[in-house]
Amino acid sequence: MANAYAPYSNFRVGAAIRSASGRIYSGCNVENAVSPVGSCAEQNAIAAAVRSEGASLSITAITIVARDASGAIAPVSPCGTCRQAILEFGSSADVTFTDSAGQLQSRNIKTLLPDAFTFASR
Ligand code: THU
Repeated sequence: MANAYAPYSNFRVGAAIRSASGRIYSGCNVENAVSPVGSCAEQNAIAAAVRSEGASLSITAITIVARDASGAIAPVSPCGTCRQAILEFGSSADVTFTDSAGQLQSRNIKTLLPDAFTFASR
C-alpha cells in the first residue's frame, strides 16, 4: 500500500496473498493516465505469486487494505474483476477486507462470487 501508484484516485491499496506453500506475496494498485490500463493491488499480487510459483499456485488467503486521500484506513472490498482473478487460483480462498462500517471481514471467495464462471475442465 505504501508503494501504490495512485495519483488519480489518491486511493492506495495493498494486497497480500498467502499461498498453499506458506509464502506471502504482495501487490499494490498501479494507475495510469488511461484508466483501463491501471491495475488493482490484488491482480498485481497474483501476478507476483504466479511469477514465483507458476501454474501450481494455490491461494489460501488474501488480505486487502487501503488508505484514502487523507491517509485514513478506508473500506475496500475486492472489485468484481479481482474476485474472478482470486477464484482462478484459490477456489476456496479466505478473503479479508475492511467493510463499509470499518470492520474487518473474512469471507470465502465463493461467498463473494457465487455461481462464478469457470471452465469445467479446470
Ligand atoms: N482498487 C484496488 O486496487 N483494489 C480493489 O479491490 C478496489 C480498487 C484500486 C483501483 C484504483 O487504482 C483505485 O483503487 C480506485 O478505484
